[in-house]
Amino acid sequence: MCGIVGYTGKQRAAPLILEGLKRLEYRGYDSAGIAVPAADGFHVTKKIGRVANLEVETNRHKVAGNYGIGHTRWATHGGVTQENAHPHVSSDGAIVLIHNGVIENYTSIKKFLLGRGYTFKSETDTEALCNLIAYHYAKEPKAAADGESRLLESVRKTLLHVEGTYGIVVMGIDTPGELVCARKGSPLILGIGDGENLVASDVAAIVSRTQNVVYLKDGELARHTPASFSLSTVNEGDIKAVIDQVTWSIADAELGTHAHFMEKEIFEQPTALENTMRGRFSEDGSTAQFGGLNLSAAEFRQIDRFMFCACGTAWHACLVTEHLIERFARVPVEVDYASEFRYRNAPLHSNTLFFVMSQSGETIDTLAALREAKRKGYRVLAVNNVVGSTIAREADGGIYQHVGPEVGVASTKAFTSQLLIGAMMALYIGRMRDMSFSDGAAYVNALKAAPNLVREVLKQAPAIRKIAERFAQYSDMLFLGRLSLFPIALEGALKLKEISYIHAEGYPAAEMKHGPIALISEQCPSVFLVTKGEMFAKVVSSMQEVKARKGLIIAICTEGLELPAGLADELITIPDCDEAVLPIVATIPVQLLSYYIAVIRECDVDKPRNLAKSVTVE
Ligand code: F6R
Repeated sequence: MCGIVGYTGKQRAAPLILEGLKRLEYRGYDSAGIAVPAADGFHVTKKIGRVANLEVETNRHKVAGNYGIGHTRWATHGGVTQENAHPHVSSDGAIVLIHNGVIENYTSIKKFLLGRGYTFKSETDTEALCNLIAYHYAKEPKAAADGESRLLESVRKTLLHVEGTYGIVVMGIDTPGELVCARKGSPLILGIGDGENLVASDVAAIVSRTQNVVYLKDGELARHTPASFSLSTVNEGDIKAVIDQVTWSIADAELGTHAHFMEKEIFEQPTALENTMRGRFSEDGSTAQFGGLNLSAAEFRQIDRFMFCACGTAWHACLVTEHLIERFARVPVEVDYASEFRYRNAPLHSNTLFFVMSQSGETIDTLAALREAKRKGYRVLAVNNVVGSTIAREADGGIYQHVGPEVGVASTKAFTSQLLIGAMMALYIGRMRDMSFSDGAAYVNALKAAPNLVREVLKQAPAIRKIAERFAQYSDMLFLGRLSLFPIALEGALKLKEISYIHAEGYPAAEMKHGPIALISEQCPSVFLVTKGEMFAKVVSSMQEVKARKGLIIAICTEGLELPAGLADELITIPDCDEAVLPIVATIPVQLLSYYIAVIRECDVDKPRNLAKSVTVE
């Protein structure tokens, strides 16, 4: 959602902060701002819209200064205005601050401060936090007796009175070169450099300057100067920091020859799948193995039910996983939206193993579902892409996706990697139960074939672009599939609506008769995911029902299936493949179709309106 970048060192801060902010724009934005020290206080520049607007303004003023903070805002409290954009400066001019999260008791804080002469310019909860730090800063002695930082102390005192969530970076008027950061429920990562230190809400913003990072935990505070950093907690003194290494480089988060990150990430999928499965098959080639489950095979064998929670695209991956585990391992699986699970107090079976899936590992609802399940005493494992994310840290164990940074807001390579992990889990659990050695070995071979099958489908990109040209101007579309391809229909509809703003719905094909069929007309095309086996004839009859109502049909169909002549207006053929990998292979055409339709409609594919890559507020 909002993005945070802070820098203190020897370089001019503004260009480095702007570069970091640009790398965070994919997380969601509606305005941006920057603050650096000036002779008479802070030089604060804010602009509505893109970071590019802010850059023009910042360059116009040639802002100097070797430390500073910057922010991209995704509005929660208060509209999209320059006043509401961050950084916020306290009314006495002593404190400047950027904030991600929501301060729940800001009205009472504001009332307290209004009574003490502080004034407010914006409608944000953040300004209350900023003025409260200023209130404590004014009361702190300029040179703290025990050598403790005055700024750090005032932030610490403030946070004792704050309810809600925050990732903040603060600068004080009398404390040059110093940045104080604190986190509760909103990610912050410290970058530890050589003669310079950084902070950001996402590794992408700092990895061009350092790969040494500290993932701040909830309740922790950090103090950066150019030459040092220290860590403490809100309630106690200093603590020891663990420095981690980022495993990817800035090149992984760059566009290269691609027009958009979404396109790049769609085409990276064969390699991403190879990376997801690397080293994860047993030596005898008959099952999967995962290093980080923190659960012995004997313990895993005791589990007789699985519960999966996630949001959005990751929730679709859970639905496919449910199908595969139930089909191949014959163990019951339940899937819930994390946002619903956290409040619905669902009764859970005692031998349930809980899983959350999250590319970012920061989605607030998924995190809350994890915490709720843990609070009830369940062991929770996470399928997650971003190493060191909050979900990865709080889970009892899990499976990293290893697909590298996903920058496009619309999830693509992370989704197919989650599908692969789901298929591998079905194998792992199945082999503990009734799946034979030879069935396991055949299943492993089927999974290993997935990257090349995806490569085959990607070769059809030019043909799919042509189909997109024919369908780009419609305003409604249906996506229909059955069994494991029903979640892919949901995913196709989500991809299309989020990046092209075409209204689209996904349904199990047979459900069409129970309502959506009313939408069918020449104006509402349908995308059918056609399955082989027993469902083939049934999907074909759903297609006939659409055709009878003059609906246009795009069929995504495995090789070798013969559709009645003239039934499909457009046909995309995918290679015949094993059931375990079919959802992965069938995903590629719906991703490409959505992508090309959005490009033809001249939509901002990588930064769709109102969306954020990582939804860190409720
Ligand atoms: C859609 C999309 C979102 C995310 C959802 C969960 O393309 O990307 O629906 O899947 O916001 O995000 P993560 O997986 O980071 O928890």
